[in-house]
Amino acid sequence: MTLRCDIITLFPQMIRAVLDSSILRRAQERGVLEVRVVDLRDYTIDRHRTADDVPYGGGAGMVLKMEPIVRATEALSADGEARRWILTSPRGRVFTHDMAGEWSRESRRFAFLCGHYEGIDDRIRLTVPWEEVSIGDYVLTGGELATLVMLDASIRFVPGVLGAASSLAEESFVNSLLEYPQYTRPAEFQGLRVPEVLLSGHHQAIKTWRRQQAIKETTHRRPDLIERARSTPDERRQVEPMAVPKGRSTA
Ligand code: 6GU
Repeated sequence: MTLRCDIITLFPQMIRAVLDSSILRRAQERGVLEVRVVDLRDYTIDRHRTADDVPYGGGAGMVLKMEPIVRATEALSADGEARRWILTSPRGRVFTHDMAGEWSRESRRFAFLCGHYEGIDDRIRLTVPWEEVSIGDYVLTGGELATLVMLDASIRFVPGVLGAASSLAEESFVNSLLEYPQYTRPAEFQGLRVPEVLLSGHHQAIKTWRRQQAIKETTHRRPDLIERARSTPDERRQVEPMAVPKGRSTA
């Protein structure tokens, strides 16, 4: 399984700086991640290498021009490979854990276009079948960080990328639940004890406790997630209401 992608960007050095570190670097060395960085400026059409221009109708900021983007995508398409075209944009569908898993199993090559400035000439939509994707409800200065975030989240799902001992099955967002709390030695630190059940060696009791903790944490921290989690009414009833600090009102 190899995640293959082209990243079209005005800031290639920003992409490379991150790809050259840590797990993303190791994934490339192992051949499970293949990235080609495409400098959008190489596809500009004037001697100043202009990639943006003022918006028609006026307004603040600059807009990415059609010509360099179309020339870059046409250059990529020349290899005849089937691609998924990803347009990074705060207007896109919000990227999730499930999408990361799905992308990690994709056999087609990806092409990411990192949006910038106030936007991209809207006619870009009519060129290739873009999937518009956002990483959350806030605005970034550009799509580079969003692209790297999505690659990082996706590559974790490729077998062998994480250490052999790590578990994708029990982490946060699996089954729409946050992860249960973890502890390590010592069993007591400055009077703070690790929950006894974890020291008991009772695997079934530990499993039940962890599931209850996951439901409790999710209920309190992310009530929006718990609605999608497949917890039973009985499991949800076991979650006690969150303690309210003295002197505060819940109103
Ligand atoms: Cl994908 N791009 C930009 N520029 N801002 C964002 C985003 C993407 N996702 C959230 N905010």
